[in-house]
Amino acid sequence: MTFWILLLIPGLFTLLVSRLVFMTIRIRKTFKNLELENHALLQENQNLHDHLKKTIQIRDDLFGLASHELKTPITSLRSQLELLKRNSQPEVGLIPGSKHLSSTLEASLGQVDRLTKLIGNMLDVTRIGAGKLQLTITSVDLVKLVQKVITSFSVELELAKCSIETHLPDVLIGEWDQGCIEQVIVNLISNAIKYAPSTLLSISAFQTELKTTLKIRDNGPGIPKNKQNIIFNKFECVSSSETCRSLGLGLYICSQIIEKHAGTIHVQSEVGKGTEFIIELPNHSGK
Ligand SMILES: Nc1ncnc2c1ncn2[C@@H]1O[C@H](COP(=O)(O)OP(=O)(O)OP(=O)(O)O)[C@@H](O)[C@H]1O
Ligand SMILES: [Mg+2]
Repeated sequence: MTFWILLLIPGLFTLLVSRLVFMTIRIRKTFKNLELENHALLQENQNLHDHLKKTIQIRDDLFGLASHELKTPITSLRSQLELLKRNSQPEVGLIPGSKHLSSTLEASLGQVDRLTKLIGNMLDVTRIGAGKLQLTITSVDLVKLVQKVITSFSVELELAKCSIETHLPDVLIGEWDQGCIEQVIVNLISNAIKYAPSTLLSISAFQTELKTTLKIRDNGPGIPKNKQNIIFNKFECVSSSETCRSLGLGLYICSQIIEKHAGTIHVQSEVGKGTEFIIELPNHSGK
């Protein structure tokens, strides 16, 4: 009996020790995993916090810029309308001459257009930010679209003393979102008018079997090389503060629209030698 007990004790002891070692290893492993999970959660939390901070910053920037930018044309529009009202009151007897009347109305319409563009850009950025930029793909004639936009800019082109030349084929059909592509052309032409007044603008387009290229060129001041990669960012305005009275959203919206069409947009520019925006679109963006 004593012999068996003496034989069992070291066996049981070894078993107990090995189980203890095994359990210690498992507990250590579990701790290590928990530590890793905790670290990952902390990192995720930090990322969420950074993202939230960035979003709040963007929202605040947008509100700040928007209220400033919306206030300027509204103030000017109000004083123009006030002047018209005052001069056209019968007791004042100052019926504005037709030249004065038409120039005041023209300036007012210009401010309304500026407001419409600003609000449109802000809505687009909000839609892009919320991932809600949806394309409606149809068959589009790019030549017709370019001509339509040029016609809609005829007053602005004249006021800015810009002339325009086009190098376009008769038709150029592709499958794109017409409204979005129109907006890209509008943004690029309005930039050319704003930043390159009194110069010749040139628009050309051509198509190969798979893709369509659209080039919009001006002979303005150009964009410095070190700024060319940032102009497509949100709220990026590289001109001096006197000439830049805008949100810096146009090119960001253009790049998002072109990206959504699986195309590319880039700039070629040299200071003093003008700027060219080059867009390449797959002929069938919906596929
Ligand atoms: N044709 C151009 N010639 C010179 N600089 C340009 C030209 N187009 C754009 N830029 C520069 O790129 C910046 C970004 O252009 P973008 O169209 O995004 O913004 P914006 O014109 O300043 O404002 P928004 O388009 O929102 O009214 C402009 O502020 C300007 O400095
Ligand atoms: Mg612009």
